[in-house]
Amino acid sequence: MDINIKKANANLVDFAQVVNSEHSVRKLLASEKIKVGVDLGTSSIVLTVLDKDNKPIYGAYEYANAVQDGIVVNYLETVKILQRLKQRAEAVLQRNLVTACGAIPPETGNSSAKIVSNVIEAAEFKCTHIVDEPTAAGKFLHVADGTVVDVGGGTTGISVFKNDNLIKSIDEPTGGTHMTLVLSGYYRISYDEAEKLKRDKTKEKEVYPVIKPVVEKMATITIGAFKNKEKILPIYVVGGSTNFDEFETTFSKILQTNVIKPMYPQFVTPLGIAMYDEDD
Ligand SMILES: Nc1ncnc2c1ncn2[C@@H]1O[C@H](COP(=O)(O)OP(=O)(O)OP(=O)(O)O)[C@@H](O)[C@H]1O
Ligand SMILES: [Mg+2]
Repeated sequence: MDINIKKANANLVDFAQVVNSEHSVRKLLASEKIKVGVDLGTSSIVLTVLDKDNKPIYGAYEYANAVQDGIVVNYLETVKILQRLKQRAEAVLQRNLVTACGAIPPETGNSSAKIVSNVIEAAEFKCTHIVDEPTAAGKFLHVADGTVVDVGGGTTGISVFKNDNLIKSIDEPTGGTHMTLVLSGYYRISYDEAEKLKRDKTKEKEVYPVIKPVVEKMATITIGAFKNKEKILPIYVVGGSTNFDEFETTFSKILQTNVIKPMYPQFVTPLGIAMYDEDD
């Protein structure tokens, strides 16, 4: 296995063990610098804390409907959630969180960056940067050349990197919400019931074939992101909606090449965001 993905997986496992718990990965020294990331997602709001070497220390999240496709639709609710996450982190780490970095989906413009930084500052952080979500995911996975497909709740972001630069970025309004709607229609159940069913590991064998066409569509869209169909490898799939055992197999078949899914793929972008919390 690729050395970078091994490192990324080790960090993801450390993070997953402490997220939303009363513990941190290790005790911080009093003078130690930390980095904080804020991911305002469609399905959840995630706060991540790293040390100066980008090793995960702590994190917390809450499910929320306060953001849609990267746009904050309920400002006060978003601020309140972020304040709660900050307090939880501060209690576990026994220190104040001072700075934070935020992120926006590509091409959502200056006004959405301004709103994200306003939310972060309203929760009493100094907002150091606002980065592009795919750039953050690429940084966490150490992608110099390759493609990252982030299948979130509201959208799928496809980002192509060459020589350490983001050369193309597409944001497609199809994600986990769409999968849930397909299930809700197929089984004639409510959206909330369908969401529960979708995440039920014991039902995955039965449910996945219903969702599979949505995954195939995402893979086809990914091919469209490549100029002259020339694939930029390796291809990574991240985001909460890749949490199906057969996701990579379906993607690989359409793309006709192996794709790599890190462990706990929903935490890749949030952890990447924190890597940019540098006060300069
Ligand atoms: N175990 C699971 N199985 C299937 N889908 C899952 C699972 N866990 C989470 N999801 C789905 O992942 C999606 C959320 O993913 P993620 O946390 O990456 O999104 P987000 O960052 O909040 O949204 P976006 O990036 O679109 O703004 C939701 O649609 C959720 O239903
Ligand atoms: Mg996301």
